[in-house]
Amino acid sequence: MSTLAELHEAAIMHNLFLRYQKNNIYTNIGSILAAVNPYKQIAGLYDSTAVDLYSKHQMGELPPHIFAVANECYRCLWKRHDSQCVLISGESGAGKTESTKLLLKFLSVMSQNSSGTPLSERTTRVEQALVQSSPIMEAFGNAKTVYNNNSSRFGKFIQLHFSQNGNIQGGCIIDYLLEKNRVVRQNPGERNYHIFYALLAGADKDHRDTYLLSEGPESYHYLSQAGCVQDSSLDDKQLFNSVMEALKVMEFSEEEIRDVFRLLSAVLQMGNIEFMTAGGAQITSNGVVSNVSELLGLDTFQLSEVLTQRSMILRGEEICSPLTVEQAVDSRDSVAMALYSQCFSWIIMSINQKIKGKNNFKSIGILDIFGFENFEVNRFEQFNINYANEKLQEYFNKHIFSLEQLEYNRSKQNAPIHII
Ligand SMILES: Nc1ncnc2c1ncn2[C@@H]1O[C@H](COP(=O)(O)OP(=O)(O)OP(=O)(O)O)[C@@H](O)[C@H]1O
Ligand SMILES: [Mg+2]
Repeated sequence: MSTLAELHEAAIMHNLFLRYQKNNIYTNIGSILAAVNPYKQIAGLYDSTAVDLYSKHQMGELPPHIFAVANECYRCLWKRHDSQCVLISGESGAGKTESTKLLLKFLSVMSQNSSGTPLSERTTRVEQALVQSSPIMEAFGNAKTVYNNNSSRFGKFIQLHFSQNGNIQGGCIIDYLLEKNRVVRQNPGERNYHIFYALLAGADKDHRDTYLLSEGPESYHYLSQAGCVQDSSLDDKQLFNSVMEALKVMEFSEEEIRDVFRLLSAVLQMGNIEFMTAGGAQITSNGVVSNVSELLGLDTFQLSEVLTQRSMILRGEEICSPLTVEQAVDSRDSVAMALYSQCFSWIIMSINQKIKGKNNFKSIGILDIFGFENFEVNRFEQFNINYANEKLQEYFNKHIFSLEQLEYNRSKQNAPIHII
């Protein structure tokens, strides 16, 4: 790109477009790799021959590719004797999460092929767990939005710990800014987190009885309010099966899986708790509250009190005052959001326990943040996400400028001196 005769936005976009038409979706811009989402599978682009080819060549020897970046990162662990980081940025639907998975794929092959590792120390445990963690994290943390039908609604930083011999011996996932608000409301045409629909589509009759789920997604306020329960490109049943398989491979116990689904069912049913005004908010759907309390192991009376009253301690005495219907709905939604986000954190923590391993050499970190979006009304959480993206972009610009400055100084020092 830097060899273009004219370097302005239109020329850059035109060049990217010409390359994209020829299925060349990757373009190098200095040390940055620009990727254009092809929205289709390009034959041979990521197969094992490509992995093999890019693992044997230095950066710049082959056409630009995400595998070239992954390979450079891997080599730099020894070349620069320092940990490496890949920052993936772009608007929603640009292909960040897919790129993260491709980086992981390449690095896990490199790890498995690392010749320095004695056979006795070679393990595919971490690689396997990392691959299997994707469907779980995507089911609980991704949703259909207007921009992307598998949009990440949380950011994640994946760190892979390598041994001196080059194999992955451990990893760690840090999640942040889960969009909690989505659990209780969505914009028109968007969906809640995939896992709710997957559970309703995939659980068999016995499980549905255990989780007290007798209805389809249309009957749950938290799933139906935005007018979109299905999407032709999403197979909820298939997702349920792959999540179940991944949970088993990751050694989640049957009891843990049951508890997670009971909690999800409780969250869903909580959205159907309704109130009316009678000297403050009163619950009108008592059957639903008793289902929720059964699922969560709570006392029905206490749960009803908590949802309809505010209590405070005044001079050592507990004083209760009734909530209005609006406040009761807010407190119901807050409980649902808190339960879901705690469940999400617990899942990430459990995955981390499975991929934990030695950290005695260097690491490669991959940051897959979720894309910026601009709605007519940006809620507080969207504001936070956009702010985080802007901060990241600022850091990125600063870093790239300082790299360019270094390069410039270096070239100045090497330049011949002319004496006039
Ligand atoms: N390299 C690729 N090849 C083919 N299809 C791709 C590629 N990258 C992305 N896609 C398609 O684009 C969709 C959106 O990509 P992805 O989910 O990675 O976006 P994202 O940048 O992570 O968005 P968000 O910020 O909303 O999470 C994918 O579901 C896939 O269909
Ligand atoms: Mg994503």
